[in-house]
Order: sequence, then structure tokens, then C-alpha cells
Amino acid sequence: MNTFGRFYRCTTFGESHGKALGVVIDGAPSGIPFCEDDIIPFLQRRRPGLSPLSTPRKEEDMPEILSGVFNGKTTGTPIAIIVRNTSQNSADYEPLKDLCRPGHADYTYDARYGHENRDWRGGGRSSGRETVARVLGGSLAAKILAEHGVTFESRIVSIHGETAPEKFESVILAAKENGDSVGGVAEVRVRGLPAGIGNPVFGKLDALLAAAVMSIGAVKGVEIGDGFAAADVFGSENNDCMRSDMRSDSSSPISTISSDSSSPVKFLSNHAGGILGGISNGNDIVIRFAVKPTPSISKAQETVDTDGKNADISVKGRHDPCIVPRILVVAECMTAMTILDSLMESSSAKF
Ligand SMILES: Cc1cc2nc3c(=O)[nH]c(=O)nc-3n(C[C@H](O)[C@H](O)[C@H](O)COP(=O)(O)O)c2cc1C
Repeated sequence: MNTFGRFYRCTTFGESHGKALGVVIDGAPSGIPFCEDDIIPFLQRRRPGLSPLSTPRKEEDMPEILSGVFNGKTTGTPIAIIVRNTSQNSADYEPLKDLCRPGHADYTYDARYGHENRDWRGGGRSSGRETVARVLGGSLAAKILAEHGVTFESRIVSIHGETAPEKFESVILAAKENGDSVGGVAEVRVRGLPAGIGNPVFGKLDALLAAAVMSIGAVKGVEIGDGFAAADVFGSENNDCMRSDMRSDSSSPISTISSDSSSPVKFLSNHAGGILGGISNGNDIVIRFAVKPTPSISKAQETVDTDGKNADISVKGRHDPCIVPRILVVAECMTAMTILDSLMESSSAKF
């Protein structure tokens, strides 16, 4: 399961301490202006080592486009992009290679692939560094969508239950001082997607978005629009009522007006988060997701070794005390790839 998407397909590869991480994008339209400078701002937002809130691992994260772009434009052939790993410190992981880090994927990777086959250096493929390749694929998707007027933004909603943004940093640093970590809630918002994109039943746009965001390491919950809060209100409060600016003496079929961004039909609220019946309704799409605290912490914890014996563990090395600030761009990229894929599938889209 290293390939994502049906029309805009991204196959990612690479491990935390291997030679490189990368993506092969298949299905991107031809003629899109694209170069490394389009990718760098996205990678910068994910890059470690930029603040005391993130892992001190310092990676340059310079993308190299290997194929599929000629004279500065996409050719319609597979686009391969890599980012070389330059700051691996595998010695940090040597003492951990026979221990299962609580909250991390060591135990389950051993159960699935066999301990002798697990690349323990930096967490291998289960490392958060894997998300570099998602950002490579998502940066082109976001560029294509921007040309169609679809844009993305994201924000931190809360850290460890704290909702005042000026306190986020102190909450994270206090946990770090204590050898611990914290999680939080974040939000991605998609603007400019017309009504009528997506599918009913098994391919619901909200289901695809939830799967895309949940596929990111450390994401443990996803909600669309009011999500879980909708369970606690009345239908009259949760329904997004509609009004039309259309003059009463004229008429137009819904299929024409609803996919037009200047549609006279307006929703008076957006509890649904922009999707009804698996299909976009023209409102902003709002996705919120819960990120767990970083598993690797220096505080001592109980675990087992790979022979199944009891052991104690304290994870030193370079780790984020909170993943939320760096995950925002990754979630935007997963959202962009999902939306582009759905637009390409939609017969109403002009590709
Ligand atoms: C951007 C990003 C950075 C991450 N950094 C770390 C880290 O420094 N240390 C760590 O233990 N886990 C980190 N993780 C989380 C692990 O990758 C993740 O918890 C692990 O693969 C287990 O998967 P699960 O939490 O989805 O079950 C990071 C995840 C992301 C998305």
C-alpha cells in the first residue's frame, strides 16, 4: 500500500535513514509549469530543526526532479522526485534496535515482517520522515488545483487541550523539559471547490479525505465539519439551510447553478464541512484531525524486547516533542491529492 490515488497516482518510497525518500507521480496533466522551487516552500514547512518545538535533526530537504518535466513543464509522463537523506545518525538507534518503543510501530512491524527484516534505523518506513514523499506528491497537486481556483489552509486548533495560540509553545516546551511529549488537534480548510465533486456510497469524498488524513502517522481521529459535535445537537441546529438570490421569475436547473462558484444558491452555515452525500456542496471543506503525542520520549517506560522479555526504555535521540506544527503541511498535501484525484475523476472537471 505505497501507492495513493486513482487518477493522480503517487507511489512513495524510502526510509528515514536510507539514501533518499521519493515519489513517482503518474497521471499528472501535461503542460503544468513545475520546478524544484514549487516544492521547496512545502518542504520547508515540514522540515525538522527549525525551532525548539521540533526534532533537532537538521535536513536540508532539497528536492531533485528526475523525470517527467521538460523545459520547465510537466510532460504527462511519470514524474520522479527525490529528497536525499543527509543527516542520519543511526548510532542513536543502536541501543533501541531490540526494544519495542511504546506507541511506535516496532512491535507491529516485527509481527508483520519479522524482526530481522525491520529497518530499525530511525524507525525506517514507520518514521515521520516518510511524510517527505507525501509532500513531494502534494506540492504538485496543490499547484494544479491553485490554477483551478482551489486553495488550502491549515491551523492548529489546540495543543494538549490548550486552545490559546500564544500558549502552544509553552505547553510543548514544558512537556519537552519533562522528557515527555504532547499531541493536539489541527484543521485543514479547502476553499474554491465547486459543488458536485465526489461520489456517493463507498467512494464518498468525506470517506476518502478521512482515509487520506488518517494514513498519516500519529493521526488518530478525523472529523468533517462539526464531526463528533454534531452528535450532540438537534437537526434544526445541524442542518445547513439554503437560500437563493435568484429572481423569482427566473429558473435554472440545480446541476447548472450548483457547480458554478457564482451560484445564487447559498448555504447559511457550514456544519456539514462542505460535503453532503459524499459530494461537495460548494462550501469550504473543513477537516479536523487528532494527532497523538510523539511516541518517542526520554521519560522511562515499561516495554518488552524482541525476545518478548520485560525491559525498560528511555528514547534519547532527536524527536519532536509535538508533531502537530509539522504535520499541517502533510495534511494539506494529502487533502490536495485527494481533491485533485476526485476532480480528475469528475466528468464536470475540465482536464
Ligand atoms: C511529521 C511527523 C513527524 C513525526 N516525528 C516523530 C518523532 O520524532 N518521533 C516519534 O516517535 N514519532 C514521530 N512521528 C510519529 C510516528 O511516525 C508514528 O506515531 C508511528 O509511525 C506509529 O504510527 P501511528 O501513530 O499512526 O500508529 C512523526 C509523525 C509525523 C507525521
